[in-house]
Amino acid sequence: MKLTSTRAAAIVALAMSVSAAMAKDITLPPDGEQLIASTLPGFAKAQANCTMCHSAEYMRYQPPNAARPYWDAMVHRMKTVFKAPIADEDMPAIVDYLASTYGNKQPR
Ligand code: HEC
Repeated sequence: MKLTSTRAAAIVALAMSVSAAMAKDITLPPDGEQLIASTLPGFAKAQANCTMCHSAEYMRYQPPNAARPYWDAMVHRMKTVFKAPIADEDMPAIVDYLASTYGNKQPR
């Protein structure tokens, strides 16, 4: 098959635009987001109990004025509804950490 030079140029241009389109960066929402570090004992417990199913992004999207009972209910909900293997004795420390780091006890 003999191509005219304009046709060949058109094919090259098309191939180039296809590869340019494929090279486009796709920005996915952040995943694997880590919990905010804290000196509270609940931080390590939250790391061990709260990021195996979803990233720490979920905590960040909770209302920043949420008080301790809200976080307490959240932690219990994870356990009862989603069967998160959280030890009952770890819950108060985790709730303290969450309220202090993501809720209304945040330093302002
Ligand atoms: C066994 C898996 C599992 C574990 C462990 C787990 N979660 Fe979840 N979590 C879920 C599921 C499932 C959802 C609902 C996801 C959805 O609706 O898209 C969720 C949703 C959330 C949300 C979003 C708000 C909501 O009500 O849906 C927050 C906040 C949250 N989890 C916090 C926590 C915290 C804090 C811990 C640790 C105490 C934890 N999760 C541990 C499974 C888990």
